[in-house]
Amino acid sequence: MRTIEDLNASGKRVLVRVDLNAPIKDGQVTDDTRLVAALPTVKELIGQGAKVILMSHRGRPKGVGFEEEFSLAPVAKRLSELLGQDVILAEDVTGPSAKELASSLEDGQVLLLENVRFDAREKKNSPDMAAELASLADVYVNDAFGTAHRAHASTAGIADVLPAYAGYLMQKEVDTLTSMLDAPKRPFVAVLGGSKVSDKIKVIDALLDKADVLIIGGAMCFTFLLSEGKPVGKSLVEEDWVDRAHDMIKKAKSKGVKLLLPVDVVVAKEISEDASTSAVSVDDIPSDQMGLDIGPETADIYADAIKKAASVFWNGPMGVFEMAPFAEGTRKVAEAIADNADADTIIGGGDSVAAVNAFGVADKMTFISTGGGASMELVQGEALPGVEALKDQVI
Ligand code: 3PG
Repeated sequence: MRTIEDLNASGKRVLVRVDLNAPIKDGQVTDDTRLVAALPTVKELIGQGAKVILMSHRGRPKGVGFEEEFSLAPVAKRLSELLGQDVILAEDVTGPSAKELASSLEDGQVLLLENVRFDAREKKNSPDMAAELASLADVYVNDAFGTAHRAHASTAGIADVLPAYAGYLMQKEVDTLTSMLDAPKRPFVAVLGGSKVSDKIKVIDALLDKADVLIIGGAMCFTFLLSEGKPVGKSLVEEDWVDRAHDMIKKAKSKGVKLLLPVDVVVAKEISEDASTSAVSVDDIPSDQMGLDIGPETADIYADAIKKAASVFWNGPMGVFEMAPFAEGTRKVAEAIADNADADTIIGGGDSVAAVNAFGVADKMTFISTGGGASMELVQGEALPGVEALKDQVI
């Protein structure tokens, strides 16, 4: 994989795929983590005197042209503030505005194309779109780890038509996650949460080959508990996945991996901020209630396992942490990971990033991935099209 270190960008038009898919409310970026993560590559290129042309998607627009709701305008504004220089925003992706602005760009200036998904050809990895994008620039840099699991025109196809390089963030993400998987410091504790076993089964399977301890939380624990014959009341379960959950328990036993499931949970009749809750043993979940967080005893057991870890990988909350009555389990896990200052602690994107931010412990983590889906696919051992395209480069 050629990297940005191999590139002399001075005076060149450099098309950079970044993942600026950030949450926006009332026209303001509410979490600029991904923008900040893109800065090292963008600043390096500006410093070298490149004409920087950024491209990103945001959300999932229909692919029928401009849609205000998915415009990158708020992102351009926040990025200008972070860079301390103007980020010029094109009105389109490869249309007249993009062409004119790209050709008149001066060394060190930054242009941002509009949301690449306004063009339906993006998600189809259209060679025509890749060629149109390529005509705007001399070289291509992919720094969008968060979108590396998508084979789209701006993440994959483009590398067939322009010399391609990996940016700093792409390298850091791939290196960090790969070394954790290849040679984790032991004991290696993996913490997985979230609501569905079906979403996480491949990750669980892959981590059972790597980890010493696998901690399960979130609503998916109820599918596991049901497979152990526990009463789960009205908790969320995936009936079709009970057997697979049971297979994972058996696999853990056969591999000598300690698989931890909750021993108690916080239950309520409804998911609401003012729900009346109680902590019950997993043997006594009432038939008319649902489990919405791990219980205090479980949180202590999980925190203790995390405390003894030399490396920790975390993906997925332990409960409905966005609501105060169900936040404690996720908070305790986040704090236990943060408190283990000697361990390599890696947060695998998605909701767990929101959780470490919400509980104010983000700066205590060794590494926070900007890719939810991408980091999961990498952990599952799947090839990421955005990364493979950089490796296969023949131009
Ligand atoms: C993400 O937020 O996970 C990435 O930006 C990818 O977005 P997508 O799931 O819409 O492709």
